[in-house]
Amino acid sequence: MTSIDLSALPARPVIDKSLLPHDPATAPSIRWGILGAGGIAMMFARAVQHHTTSTIAAVGSRSLAKAQAFAQDFRVPHVFGSYEELVASDDIDVIYVATPHSHHLEHAQLALGAGKPVLVEKAFTRNVAEALQIFDMAQRKNLFAMEAMWTRFLPATAIVHEIINSGKIGDVVTVIADHGQKLDHDDAGRLLNPALAGGALLDLGVYPTAYAHDILGLAPNIVATGQRTHTGVDGQVALTLTYEGKQQASLHTTLWAKTATTAVIAGTEGWIEVPGDFYCPPSVRLHLPDGLTKEFSTGFPPGHAGLAFEAAEVARCLDDGVIQSARNPWADTVEVLSILDEARKQVGVVYPGE
Ligand SMILES: NC(=O)c1ccc[n+]([C@@H]2O[C@H](COP(=O)([O-])OP(=O)(O)OC[C@H]3O[C@@H](n4cnc5c(N)ncnc54)[C@H](OP(=O)(O)O)[C@@H]3O)[C@@H](O)[C@H]2O)c1
Repeated sequence: MTSIDLSALPARPVIDKSLLPHDPATAPSIRWGILGAGGIAMMFARAVQHHTTSTIAAVGSRSLAKAQAFAQDFRVPHVFGSYEELVASDDIDVIYVATPHSHHLEHAQLALGAGKPVLVEKAFTRNVAEALQIFDMAQRKNLFAMEAMWTRFLPATAIVHEIINSGKIGDVVTVIADHGQKLDHDDAGRLLNPALAGGALLDLGVYPTAYAHDILGLAPNIVATGQRTHTGVDGQVALTLTYEGKQQASLHTTLWAKTATTAVIAGTEGWIEVPGDFYCPPSVRLHLPDGLTKEFSTGFPPGHAGLAFEAAEVARCLDDGVIQSARNPWADTVEVLSILDEARKQVGVVYPGE
């Protein structure tokens, strides 16, 4: 794998990943502007409105009628028929970029150029080079930017780190994680279309990859094998990350089938089971060799309500005046993308213009 130079980025803050996140409702109130009125934008709006004190202050769509329909559903006061008008609005504190990965660079630059901080959906960009352009601009303009890798902010993830830190499972040896969804129904849609940066890796595989990276860090050795769709993007990929010593991650993603979407973190003295969907699970189970199993409930609804935790993180970061999140720093986003770049290269997928 080609090594990446992170020296131009601000230093990665060191934090305790096992600290349970605060209730999202206790975060400062901010005014969100949503860029792109698609599927995840709706789930995000619902999570913010139900679980935080922040507001969805504005929505921008390429179609005014679509923005108006979204605004009606979510009681959004400011409505724009273009992204340019949205980012220029004085009624918002931050932009949530909820468009296909192919357009994250353009739309994040649009928001930052208008002086607005950004939360950008996963995968942050198509590749490392694009991510570095966004972070460079955010740094020059002293504006907050973050990838919406929401799993990092969930109580379940903090519980996993707490168990690992406690030493109960001994030394971590293996992380196994899988994310498959049957999403191959539309050749022109964002999952299969190369022009929209389609493929399993960037849409689904980013979760197991970021999960393994959060626990084990950047692997020196990456081996990927997979098959391409008839449209030329990756349909499914098996990915092995091998570290110095005894650590390995075995990851899988497919857009041709729904899978169990579970994760396992196995150590020398026991293992952690993260039930499906591991990226927003209802609980975490600790298994010890003597047969003892202990279940830890997260105390929060599973599923996309958990988007409220990343929204709360953004609110706290803006309140603190920092430009990157300590829990999801820029260097982590870049390193995860570097793994995906390498995997995509090995599977032979190149996007138009790359
Ligand atoms: N965190 C999660 O759990 C989660 C779940 C699903 C998706 N995502 C991420 O969120 C992003 C959007 O996914 P989605 O499922 O919401 O997609 P979607 O339903 O297709 O919505 C994407 C929106 O992007 C806008 N857009 C701008 N340029 C576009 C273009 N050339 N083609 C298509 N749409 C364009 C459209 O909004 P307007 O027409 O209103 O302008 C569209 O509604 C992706 O990066 C994806 O990985 C995250």
